[in-house]
Amino acid sequence: MQLETRQLIIREFTVEDTLAVHDYASNTEVAKYMIWGPNTEEETASFIDRAIEMQRRQPRLDYEFAVELKEEGQLIGVCGIHLSEPLQGEIGYCFHPYRWGRGYASESAKALLQFGFENLGLHRIYATCRPENIGSAKVMEKIGMKYEGHLRGHMRHKGKWHDSFQYSILEDEYAELALTSKRV
Ligand SMILES: CC(C)(COP(=O)(O)OP(=O)(O)OC[C@H]1O[C@@H](n2cnc3c(N)ncnc32)[C@H](O)[C@@H]1OP(=O)(O)O)[C@@H](O)C(=O)NCCC(=O)NCCS
Repeated sequence: MQLETRQLIIREFTVEDTLAVHDYASNTEVAKYMIWGPNTEEETASFIDRAIEMQRRQPRLDYEFAVELKEEGQLIGVCGIHLSEPLQGEIGYCFHPYRWGRGYASESAKALLQFGFENLGLHRIYATCRPENIGSAKVMEKIGMKYEGHLRGHMRHKGKWHDSFQYSILEDEYAELALTSKRV
């Protein structure tokens, strides 16, 4: 499975990606709003194992993809889509801080919407972020997802209860957006 955007190759993980993933996954700033991390080497190795294991599952419900810069061939982050309920998917993304602010998260997330709606035939795609994670909320808004609400104290990790903002996009909204961007 491989997706291609203007600047990125979004592809399956291999064991060779472990060091490049650990480089960002062990970073405290990166893990600040995540339910995981900062990772130990063992935790990163176990993430890679799980990502590879997903590739073999039938039916396949989980996709974690490595995001690579086309020009440099360098792995800069991860994005994924998980089919939690029938015809619905949850997306997520995480990038090396050295690469923040260049549109890569938005480009990857948009590719995930295309994959989810056009290849997997989904009806609804959603995502959550911690309310303080302004960058992530902006990515969701930028790709056409709509704010659904504020989930209060709904998940517990790192010893605390956390709130989330939830966003989603439906198949007809995506179709309209895809049509509009083709017209421009
Ligand atoms: C959140 C994250 C994915 C954003 O990635 P990115 O590649 O910098 O995002 P983009 O460059 O596509 O930015 C999209 C928009 O958000 C804005 N933005 C990004 N980070 C921001 C921040 N920290 N504060 C305010 N705005 C921010 C960008 O300026 C851009 O807006 P614009 O198009 O109007 O200029 C990245 O910071 C990250 O990997 N963080 C750690 C992991 C994480 O939190 N993942 C999300 C979990 S829900």
